[in-house]
Amino acid sequence: MALQSSLITVMAAAAKKAARGLVRDFGEVEQLQVSKKGPADFVSVADTKAERTLIQELKKGRPDYGFLSEEQSEIKGTDPDSRWIIDPLDGTTNFLHGIPHFAISIAAERSGEIFAGVIYQPISDELFWAEKGRGAYVNNNRLRVSGRRELAQAVITTGIPHHGRGDPVAYLAEMAAIMPEVAGVRRFGAAALDLAYVAAGRCDGFWESALAPWDIAAGILLVREAGGMVSEFNGRALMMQSGEILATNGALHGPLTRLLREAQRAAR
Ligand code: IPD
Ligand code: CA
Ligand code: CA
Repeated sequence: MALQSSLITVMAAAAKKAARGLVRDFGEVEQLQVSKKGPADFVSVADTKAERTLIQELKKGRPDYGFLSEEQSEIKGTDPDSRWIIDPLDGTTNFLHGIPHFAISIAAERSGEIFAGVIYQPISDELFWAEKGRGAYVNNNRLRVSGRRELAQAVITTGIPHHGRGDPVAYLAEMAAIMPEVAGVRRFGAAALDLAYVAAGRCDGFWESALAPWDIAAGILLVREAGGMVSEFNGRALMMQSGEILATNGALHGPLTRLLREAQRAAR
């Protein structure tokens, strides 16, 4: 039985309260697909409502923390060293299209170090959570990364550049390097869940560039606490600043780092 600390309990309660509104709105979105205006404005309202709920609930638990959030950016707290890093709706495009794969991500950071993380997937009711030095869990079950040691058996998730986003030339070189070496590549559309799935051993690695801190903050801790490794493609650890991330089960970190570095050289 995994004993949640009071901090994780605050984070989980905030995520589940915000999720109730998202699930209700998600039911509406499926109807809106056929409307001329489309659901874009409706989804941005859903996103903002979820963020408002998260901020209200997290403030009750830790009144002096600041916030770094996708929709409101930076809110200073009275404690200059502690802040929440939140993504109220990760997987917006999935949500917009009625695809049931999205999550709420909350990380607690003190003096630049993430020490607690929660990623909640409302549709499957899976609460992924971790505290530094205390392991990673999904609901009450301990998480461990996969034991696969051969790339040819590995399923790797990724984020693909799209209209107005990312560097297609660089990405195609990365995909050309990785695709022929692995058992499969998946693009699920929610980076926080991509990281949670690596921590859960469902996938063996994840790579993407141009991510925001709120996409990855909680997931980085989850992967590390589940026994995995996280770095930038060149092995440095400045993912929160660069937005470039490779997360793996540890055994495959070397082979994937080498392939990505070769791809970066090929794309130059
Ligand atoms: C996006 C998702 C997506 C990733 C994008 C992110 P959002 O977050 O995580 O999987 O490829 O780079 O921006 O916009 O849905 O919160
Ligand atoms: Ca996001
Ligand atoms: Ca978002």
